[in-house]
Amino acid sequence: MRKPIIVGNWKMNLGVKEAKKLVDELTSMDLDKNVEQGICVPFVDLTTVKEILESKDTLISFGAQNMYFEESGAYTGEISPTMLKEINAKYVILGHSERREYFKEDDELINKKVLSALSHDLIPILCVGETLSEREEGNAKDKVSSQIKSDLKDVSKEEIEKVVIAYEPIWAIGTGKTASSDDAEDMCKYIRNLIEELYTYEESQKVRIQYGGSMKPENVKELLAKENIDGGLIGGASLKADSFSKLINFSK
Ligand code: PGA
Repeated sequence: MRKPIIVGNWKMNLGVKEAKKLVDELTSMDLDKNVEQGICVPFVDLTTVKEILESKDTLISFGAQNMYFEESGAYTGEISPTMLKEINAKYVILGHSERREYFKEDDELINKKVLSALSHDLIPILCVGETLSEREEGNAKDKVSSQIKSDLKDVSKEEIEKVVIAYEPIWAIGTGKTASSDDAEDMCKYIRNLIEELYTYEESQKVRIQYGGSMKPENVKELLAKENIDGGLIGGASLKADSFSKLINFSK
């Protein structure tokens, strides 16, 4: 059985002071030990978050929301996989729709980042998803399939099971609109079948697929009850201890 995985994506929110407050709160709560739990925070918060988490008895791990694929060099403003690894980051979100849209990241770049993260022993949380018009025109699956095929190019059979895939329909992100649990399951199942096609049945059963897009305490149970939805990538609802803890404790 796949272990459920709930990860917070703070996006460009919470400076060091607020980060400290939220992590202090989260680490004092009773969180479900059967759920893998993580927070992906702004770069400037990473070392503060790391120090708090390492000083507490907690299962919460941390990660970044982006990285460059090179290890070092003249790349002004970028952060490397070796830098993330040095501070023991576990996850890195890659290919988030906001990076694709606002920072013009394409599948070729995202693929390089995925390969680089894996070779540095970081868990990539690879985000894919369609726009509203792609869904309305019936092209949602084609879009997701082309993203997955390009973003996972050259990822080996041994590596694929470490990758977490987050299906995030763009029209559901930060909008309060959630995909229906049936639509989300339909796409997550499609993604799992695609992994089987690209790898093997065995790998497809190991890869964890999250849903992301306005996931909140009110809809988490229904979404995670679906066979192919193994967790959530949470934006807005990860910024408050009360809602984020309820998401981690979805089965309680
Ligand atoms: P949201 O964001 O939960 O605020 O919709 C999810 C995400 O973009 O990862």
